Amino acid sequence: MLQKFLSFFIPVTIYRKKSSINSSLEVTWNNGQLVLDSKNTNYSYGSLQRILRKGLRYIGFSRIKGFKKILVLGVAGGSVIKTLTEEVGFTGKITGVEIDPLAIDIANKYFELDKISNLEIIIDDAFEFVLKTKEKYDLIIIDIFQDTAMPNFLFENFFINRINFLLNVNGFILFNTMTLSKRDKERNLEYRSRFNENYSVRMYPKVEDHNELFTIKKLA
Ligand SMILES: C[S@@+](CC[C@H](N)C(=O)[O-])C[C@H]1O[C@@H](n2cnc3c(N)ncnc32)[C@H](O)[C@@H]1O
Repeated sequence: MLQKFLSFFIPVTIYRKKSSINSSLEVTWNNGQLVLDSKNTNYSYGSLQRILRKGLRYIGFSRIKGFKKILVLGVAGGSVIKTLTEEVGFTGKITGVEIDPLAIDIANKYFELDKISNLEIIIDDAFEFVLKTKEKYDLIIIDIFQDTAMPNFLFENFFINRINFLLNVNGFILFNTMTLSKRDKERNLEYRSRFNENYSVRMYPKVEDHNELFTIKKLA
């Protein structure tokens, strides 16, 4: 395919659309790989997929394989879901929550997310969803961005407590954050301090330059 070949020299954008939630969503061939980007950052596949794959490795692929239910907050093109099904070999139930219906249209059309049989997609605000759900999960992946911005609710006690409640004992939270300023770094240290001795919190700074990952294990 010509576009794929050209993309080894220069990125080739094949789809771009304005969205009410993410100012723009773009599908681009980049170095022979199809990626989903927002205006200023990579959303799925590319560096984002590498970041979350590292997080999953920190938790351990074999441990994750034994989990029963995984919740993914922020789906976009679904690259972490592909890592879970194709690389980890996870066969339990995955629930993906995404606020932007356009992102899911793109995920299905360009990345065949609708071919994954153990995946249920819910179009909703992650904040609303975690209030409503009655299920509990073994792994909760929080990967919510609007371009490079992270909504404030992610760092508020109400949301943190609700996520902790939805997590099974011995389960993990994988939280992807962006630290572009000193304030963001302070925000993350403050976030870490909210977890008591019932949780084991690890921070992995400078994952692909500007991202900082948290893994949080519920001990009791
Ligand atoms: C970095 S992308 C997610 C990438 C995805 N986890 C993957 O592995 O490819 C961030 C996504 O968060 C979504 N998002 C932003 N605010 C949200 C909210 N309040 N609830 C649910 N999704 C939200 C955006 O629409 C965007 O698709």
